[in-house]
Amino acid sequence: MTLLKIARMGHPVLLRRADDIADPTAADIRRLAQDMVETMRDAEGVGLAAPQIHVSRRIIVFFAPEGRAEDEGPHGASPLTALINPVYQPLSPEKALGWEGCLSIPGLTGAVPRFRHIGYRGWTPDGQLIEREATGFHARVVQHEIDHLDGILYTMRMNDLSLLSFTEELKHRMRGDDDADEAEGDAPP
Ligand code: NI
Repeated sequence: MTLLKIARMGHPVLLRRADDIADPTAADIRRLAQDMVETMRDAEGVGLAAPQIHVSRRIIVFFAPEGRAEDEGPHGASPLTALINPVYQPLSPEKALGWEGCLSIPGLTGAVPRFRHIGYRGWTPDGQLIEREATGFHARVVQHEIDHLDGILYTMRMNDLSLLSFTEELKHRMRGDDDADEAEGDAPP
């Protein structure tokens, strides 16, 4: 396993559309997925997309733990998953505002509108097709990571930049409130 260097906002690799992966089961893709999981865990994130480690290919890793504030219904959590060439579509037009961080934008947290309920699919490094529904935090993480494959950072999805904050400042204001879910950053206090 190898820990990979994380690209930060301003690096052009984060702004381009990542390339499709022809063979999800290729050995180098399996190795890449393993290294991404290791890197994500080391950085205490819950999601990572390949462009964030300077690899412009369509693969993401993520998980959605149970019990987050945004959890809704039976599709609110997800085990650790690596997905190749993932796509999603909204299953309802309804959006919710929730807090997100990003390993490529360290120290900041912003409130981002995302679809509450989506369907998504993609291939695992074992060649298995995964098709799932996701709600709440689970849906938020998947939308955030797939956005990275299209060169979109969460700040570009915000419609109220007064809700972009240093994470430390937000923690002071939200002390005692467990609503500060972040899609990639450190866990809230
Ligand atoms: Ni991110």
